[in-house]
Amino acid sequence: MADRANNIFELREVSYCYPNDEWALKNINISITRGAKVALLGENGAGKSTLMLLLNGILKPTNGSIQFENELICHRRKALRKLHQKVGFLFPNSDDQLIAPTVYEEISFGLMNLYKDENLTRKKTEEIISHFDLKQIQHKSPHQLSSGQKKMVCLAAILAMEPEVIICDEPASHLDYKSEQLLFVHLDRLNKMGKTIIISTHNIDQAYEWTDETILLHQSQLKAHGKTTEVLSNSKLLKEVNIPSPTIISLLNELNIDIPTNNPPKTKKDLAQLIYLNR
Ligand SMILES: Nc1ncnc2c1ncn2[C@@H]1O[C@H](COP(=O)(O)OP(=O)(O)O)[C@@H](O)[C@H]1O
Ligand SMILES: [Mg+2]
Repeated sequence: MADRANNIFELREVSYCYPNDEWALKNINISITRGAKVALLGENGAGKSTLMLLLNGILKPTNGSIQFENELICHRRKALRKLHQKVGFLFPNSDDQLIAPTVYEEISFGLMNLYKDENLTRKKTEEIISHFDLKQIQHKSPHQLSSGQKKMVCLAAILAMEPEVIICDEPASHLDYKSEQLLFVHLDRLNKMGKTIIISTHNIDQAYEWTDETILLHQSQLKAHGKTTEVLSNSKLLKEVNIPSPTIISLLNELNIDIPTNNPPKTKKDLAQLIYLNR
């Protein structure tokens, strides 16, 4: 996280105050590694959504600065449009994102803005619709869809733009098990292509097993930032911020097995091995 050239975002002394004088973030200094899977954690009201909206340029820091790819985020309209193409944002509530009359138009809208070419837009839209298996619902209004289908349409519309970063604010909210699995299959595939994924979630086990880095916010401040296995195996720290320990860590604590600090178990398989060695 210290390697500057490798950082996609750099936040320096970032604070944000809402118009009602509520300071949602105070003095945040973090660098986010390009290509990482990042968990943004904290209890309700900690400042997660505000931080995500700042990264995407929807909000502008009250104080401090945010660099994306070594350039200060500029909030002029044209620059923001370019930023939104590179930094996709999956809203927690899909209805806040869906604006077009049909699924097809939802996806083609951004592409037309990007390419300004009807043939290319049509080709890319059809590719995305087929890739996300949306053919059957392409002429439906997004508002006639189930929550899981809406989420997939939102994700498809974002990915159509081929962004560098995908920010997902509580992506699993309103999703059933199968839709959630599918969403994470897509996110994993994108990460393997080098994209940076930032998710906020209350699913601590998923954050522990799926992400590389964790940013922990508490009462508008940065409480910790580091390797996920290190931050989330620190039970004392998690208790202070009212977040439960991941099941893997709780089990080791219950069994009185020391957690190897240099290499805590990340998966259930690692856990089984560690329990076996300590039998
Ligand atoms: N639109 C808003 N206007 C005023 N205050 C807000 C607004 N959105 C969020 N806040 C406040 O900012 C703080 C951080 O909120 P938020 O970033 O939504 O937290 P989280 O996503 O971690 O639950 C909270 O105290 C919340 O009440
Ligand atoms: Mg939130």
